[in-house]
Amino acid sequence: MGARADGARPAASAPAPAAAARRPRPGGGRVLGACVHACGLFPLLRWIALGLAGGLGANPQEFLTRSSGLWALALLWATLAVTPARRLGWSGLLRHRRKLGLYAFFYTALHVLAWAVWDRGGAPASMWTDLWARDFIGVGALAVLCLIPLAATSTQGWMRRLGRGWKRLHMLVYPAAILSALHFDWMRAGKNDFLEPRLYAAVLALLLAARLPGWWRGRRAARRGSPGASG
Ligand code: HEM
Repeated sequence: MGARADGARPAASAPAPAAAARRPRPGGGRVLGACVHACGLFPLLRWIALGLAGGLGANPQEFLTRSSGLWALALLWATLAVTPARRLGWSGLLRHRRKLGLYAFFYTALHVLAWAVWDRGGAPASMWTDLWARDFIGVGALAVLCLIPLAATSTQGWMRRLGRGWKRLHMLVYPAAILSALHFDWMRAGKNDFLEPRLYAAVLALLLAARLPGWWRGRRAARRGSPGASG
């Protein structure tokens, strides 16, 4: 671990910038990490508490399906907020982005499982039919297809193996987020209730717009052939 490809030993007095960025900052980094875990586990603990207190409402299955969907979306947006937050000077969250992304995927998986078991009775034929019958289910499934490779390659090992391809692959988070926002909007269209989905869409638009200057600078730097900023 920590060996360099060129065989040279890193200077003891000048740690590599990447290593320095990864090194846990005493106290602060761990507190932030604990906060991220607390946010990630909060929905699960809340459902357990509500379940024990009989507070899941008249239709607990519908409640849990919807609640898991909403938390999946909120955590996906939180993951996307890390880069703009860094630009505003709040860089501490960067080292916890993977955790946030994995929590988002965890609630997405629970959400899909809830649909598969409670809505479709665990029958693959019924799931397949639903994917094509309801547009919002179809786009939701496409979003999940984008998220799966991100979760599967989120480890340091995959990062190393894929090299520059890792960053390119992780651009899938953008179609995943847009498809998830569409899924929410189309699902609520059936109920003519657009307020919440449109608020989420507006926040997503802001999060994506906040990346534009970085992308623009990166493109210009690449055109000039200098190792400039990236998105
Ligand atoms: C195979 C993929 C998916 C399936 C089958 C699916 C299924 C569903 C179902 C059955 C509902 C509830 C509909 C109702 O109560 O009438 C729903 C709502 C929802 N889903 Fe999904 N979903 C999928 C993917 C996703 C993804 C990737 C996200 C976000 C990351 C997401 C977020 C939501 C949200 C926010 C709601 C609305 C919750 C509410 O109304 O409060 N879903 N989905």
